[in-house]
Formats: sequence, C-alpha cells, structure tokens
Amino acid sequence: MSIDPASIPAPARDAAVPAADSNPAGADIPAGIGSAAAPREHFASRLGFILISAGCAIGLGNVWRFPYIAGEYGGAAFILLYLIFLVILGLPVMVMEFAVGRASQRSAALAFDVLQPSRRWHWFSWWGYIGCMLLMMFYTTVCGWMLAYTAKMATGTFDGLDPEGVGGVFGTMLANPSEMVGWMLAVIVIGFFVCSFGLQKGVERITKIMMICLLGVMGLLVVRSVTLPGAAEGLAFYLVPDFGRMFAGGIGGFGEAVYAAMGQAFFTLSLGISAMEVFGSRIGKQNSLTGEALRICGLDTLVAILAGLIIFPACFAFAVAPDQGPSLVFVTLPNVFNQMPLGQLWGTLFFVFMSFAALSTIIAVFENLITFTMEKWDLSRRDAIKRTAILVTVLSLPCALGFNVLAGVTVPGIGDIQSIEDFIVSNNLLPLGSLLYVVFCVSRKGWGWKNFLAEADTGTGAKFPRWARGWLAFGLPTLIIIIFIMGYVPKIMLWLGLA
Ligand code: ALA
Repeated sequence: MSIDPASIPAPARDAAVPAADSNPAGADIPAGIGSAAAPREHFASRLGFILISAGCAIGLGNVWRFPYIAGEYGGAAFILLYLIFLVILGLPVMVMEFAVGRASQRSAALAFDVLQPSRRWHWFSWWGYIGCMLLMMFYTTVCGWMLAYTAKMATGTFDGLDPEGVGGVFGTMLANPSEMVGWMLAVIVIGFFVCSFGLQKGVERITKIMMICLLGVMGLLVVRSVTLPGAAEGLAFYLVPDFGRMFAGGIGGFGEAVYAAMGQAFFTLSLGISAMEVFGSRIGKQNSLTGEALRICGLDTLVAILAGLIIFPACFAFAVAPDQGPSLVFVTLPNVFNQMPLGQLWGTLFFVFMSFAALSTIIAVFENLITFTMEKWDLSRRDAIKRTAILVTVLSLPCALGFNVLAGVTVPGIGDIQSIEDFIVSNNLLPLGSLLYVVFCVSRKGWGWKNFLAEADTGTGAKFPRWARGWLAFGLPTLIIIIFIMGYVPKIMLWLGLA
C-alpha cells in the first residue's frame, strides 16, 4: 500500500458539526492523510451506520422491482436464486466497498489515491460520482411520484374512480411538466435540507427515524394484507416455489430469471458506484465488515420480501392481476385500495412507506455526493451542498420532462429518458463498477487481497472467508462479464434487426 500524503488535499471539513459530537470511534482514524487536523466525523452509533447503509440499499428496488420479478419468475424459487446471488455476489462487493472506505477514511473522491499502489486507480473515483449522479437523475422523479401519491391518497383523489379513472390520474400526472418538476424539486429540497444539518444531526438522525417508521408501517401493512379474505391465493403465488414458472420460457426463461436475480442484487445494494463506500469511511474498527454487511443485506432482503407480502395478497384478495413496473404501484394498487375497507388510510400508509424507502436512498446518495464534492474540491459542507444541489436539479430535469415535453426522446430497445438513465446505471455502471472493486481488492495491481482481508476482518464479528479468494479472483469477474453481455444481447439483436 503506498500513501503519498502530500498528494492528498486538506481533509474534508465537516465544519457544521463540532468535533465534540464525533463518535469516540474517531480515535480509530488512521494517522496521516491530514486526519490529525480535523477528526473525520463518524456515525454517532453503530445502529446509525447500519440503518443508513440499509436505507441506501432499501429503495425502489425492494418495494417495487423485487416483488414483481419474484412473482414473475416463480415466487420462492426466485427468492432462493436471489439469495444465492446475494451471498456470492452482493455481500462480497459490499464488504469491499466498506473496506476501501474504512481503510482510507475517505469518500471515493480520494480513497483510491490513498490506497492504490500506483496512480493507475485514482480515475476510478469518478465512476462512483457519475454513477450516483445518474442514479439520482431518475430517482428524484420516481421518489416525487411517491410523494405525489401520498398526497393524492390522503386527499381522496381516487375516491369513487373506476379502474380507468385511477389509471388516468397517473397518465395526467406524467403529462403535466409543472407537476412532475414540482414533485421532483420537493424531493431535492427535502434531501438537501436533511443533509444540511450534517452527518450526525441531519442524515443519521432523520434516516434512523424514517427507517424505524418504515419498518413499523410495513409491519402494519403486511398484517392488513395477509389477513384480507382471499389473501391465501396471493401468498401461495408469492411464497410457494414454482420452478415451472421459472423455466416457463425453457432455458432462455431460466437465463432471464438468473439475469434478473443478479441485476437485482447489484441494484438493491447500490453496489459498484461507491454509494456504500462512503459509509465505511465514517466508522471505526470495532466491528468486522462482513458482520456489518450481513446485517445490512439481511435488513434489505427482509424489506424486499415483506413488500411482496403487502402487494400480492392484496391484489389476489380483490382479484386484481399484479402488473409490472410503475403501473403496479400507481394504477393496480390504488385500485386495490379503492376496494378495501378504510382503503384511503391503508393507501396513504402504503405511499408513506414507499416514500420513506425512496427518500432513505435519496438522502444517503446525496450525502455521498456532498462528501465527494467536499473532498475532491476541498470545499466546506455548505458550498458542497450548493454545488451538488444545483447539479442534481439541472440533471434531474430531463427525466421529469421525459414523460411530456421530451417524450419524443427514446432509444429503440431501451425506451424513454428514464429507461435510458436506468439502463446506463443498472446494466453498465453497477456491474462493471463492482467488477473493478473486486479487481482492486483481490489483485496485486490494486490494493491487494492481504490489505483487503486485514481491513475486512478488523473488529469483532464474522470474518471474511479465506477460501473465497479463488471465486473472487476468477468466478465472480466471469459472472459479472456474463451478466454484462447478457444485458446487451437482446438490445444488439434488436438494433441489428434480428429480433
Ligand atoms: N438500492 C436502491 C434501491 O434499491 C438504489 O432502490
């Protein structure tokens, strides 16, 4: 490991929070790299770290994408497949991101400068910044839909509407640029407002409250849904392993399920774009990173599985076919709530739950972008917030306008602006960024296996398995490259006119 302190700008300035507020774990910050001048702000508690990392992971991927793809590819059969990929793919990459963050005590802006053996890796810092920014470019719009639907449900917009009328509400919202941009701006203002209070007093405090409320509301919704008359059929559809459904399209169909499970593991854990790395840089050495990653993956998976327990029993109880993507959440479910006793209350709670899930990701990724900006350009938190907020706002506009004034902008085989941005992130930056993390942590040309292992295993708790090295050096990179190619095959066939 070569460190050249002279090449590292002055430490990031978390001036908003006095040093006295810092975690006593700050004592663990490695000497050098300027850390002596201003102790790096750490999370106030271990629970804070776990809930914020889980909040970054828990989002639309869990509450919207996971239930649908699980239902489509065989319920519990798919969940099993997904769990395998979570363990062999998601968990190790998450530990690697945390290890890079904790060892360097820097966000991705400088972590590679600190840890790299030569200047070959420092450009990788941009991968995380661009990935997080692109994720936010469409996430702010979709999170805005959640806020909009919370308000619409609470104010009775859907009362007395037939299924067509309910669908019309969604279409009308998409077609209205001011409404779309307005809700997107509301999300950006809320996110940066929370971040403006600093890591402990803003991000940690608010996310903790939000995550606890999210779990509570989710519990209520699950109980309501599974106790509806007729819920059993939905439970069976979701929880009984159906390998027939998984192989419905033959081996090609199974390939699609594998592809979906692997993509879901990357997306739900926000891996490969250094979104998790920054949280590793805000903790001490008391606990092993594998143990922490296991807890975060566990929480993320719990929320994903429970989201399905809300959606499927409710849909089957009211004989509404579970749909795909946005229409599942914004058309199908409002129709279900319209038929349910006290549906307005349950519907509002459901969209509060969805909003918290999406906002927890927004706040965590904004915090990441802010820390990156502070460290890269040696800015105060206030200046970094201003710069990041302007950039996020401008860059979020194309997605918000992509359903109305920019509706003509599409790419064949991919779709509208939102789908293009999602494709760039989900099919490219997440898998390839994860591959680069693996190479960095395993290869001697990067940080190296011994350094990675020493960092991951420092502290009490589960240790990273030694025997996994062969898998990480050869198996996992091969798997990631296969996923990457599989994502392009149908598109290339279409572009060449072969499909
Ligand atoms: N991990 C985030 C989600 O699942 C991006 O929505």
